[in-house]
Amino acid sequence: MIKKITIDQLVPGMFVHQILEQKGALTVTSQGRVTSGDVVKTLKKRGVKTLAIDTDKAFNVEQPSSSATVEKHQNSPSDQPVKSKKISLENELVRAAKLHEQGKELQKLLLANVQKETPFDASIPKAFSNKLVESVDRNPDALLCLTKIREKDDYLLEHSLNVAILLANFGKYLGMSEEEVQDLSYAGFLHDLGKIKIPDEILHKPGRLTESEMEIMKGHVKHGVDYLKSTEIAQPLIQAISEHHERLDGLGYPAGTKGEDISQAGRMLAIADMYDALTADRVYKAGMPSQKAFSILMSDAPTRLDQSLVQQFIKCLGVYPVGSLVLLSNDKLAMVLEQRDSPFTPLVKVFYSVRSNHYLTPKDVDLSSDKTISINKAVIASDYKIDVNAFFERSVSIG
Ligand SMILES: [Fe+2]
Repeated sequence: MIKKITIDQLVPGMFVHQILEQKGALTVTSQGRVTSGDVVKTLKKRGVKTLAIDTDKAFNVEQPSSSATVEKHQNSPSDQPVKSKKISLENELVRAAKLHEQGKELQKLLLANVQKETPFDASIPKAFSNKLVESVDRNPDALLCLTKIREKDDYLLEHSLNVAILLANFGKYLGMSEEEVQDLSYAGFLHDLGKIKIPDEILHKPGRLTESEMEIMKGHVKHGVDYLKSTEIAQPLIQAISEHHERLDGLGYPAGTKGEDISQAGRMLAIADMYDALTADRVYKAGMPSQKAFSILMSDAPTRLDQSLVQQFIKCLGVYPVGSLVLLSNDKLAMVLEQRDSPFTPLVKVFYSVRSNHYLTPKDVDLSSDKTISINKAVIASDYKIDVNAFFERSVSIG
């Protein structure tokens, strides 16, 4: 199927059928596969604005052969996502929603401990992270769905929880062992605890931080790591946490660690952290659609982020990630519930009519079998002034 998209929606794995709109005189006429983020960058540089893709020719992005900086995992990822679904999404959502709430409460407790510099019993958050991984084992889509349902005031609590969920999915996708996935998810849950030491006016400042404010903000990594060193948390986990703002070019912080000196867990944490921060709704701004966040991650690779890992992360979440909103060709909004055979035809829950501005009785539609409807584009709730949280509580997580 030929589908029109904007350049910001273009990601590796798509097949360009035709360039539709381009500014400047340098015309790009060729069709072809988007094999890497560099192709997207080139098209952007040439002023391409909208283009037509052929969804039937979508493909899996190959691992780049020259990824010398990538620590290959022993069990390298297969072409197909490692996503077993032992129980139905409906069933797991009920448990996952409780777990999500517990995660926020636990995060609140941990932050309070860090603030007061009192020790916490590390076995509690460890046991919680293991439960997250168990939920992902039963059905990966349930917790992923919940990462998109957020309260604007709870960013600090939800961000670390979401990063833990994203990393559990990502680690599994890469074929890591259960223990490694648990550790990775645990590191995600603890990675931003130091933020509680940052003054509120800087932490919650809408807009850009000044240079001196930024320096204070950067201190959150050291605050967190110093605290964690006083617990019995294993050193490799503390290392990964200390690296979540380091970048391959050495221009990250706090240490300016470069390339291969940054652990694989640290690189994965950096990607999940950045993705969640970009897509999160904040009090002062709406989060961006996943496609735009993917393209920002790709543009930071390979200089700053590990290109191979970014590509795998995008493949893991899919072109339309679970929990994200899409506008369908029939002018209805739907939430992506489950990835199916093609990344362009997920199972969705249709719930809102854009034409008549009202909620519909929610209905599951499998876009891989209903060929009369397709996805026009990814959207965000604030574009339509709809309350996704309320909809979700009514029709997805309960009943
Ligand atoms: Fe951070």
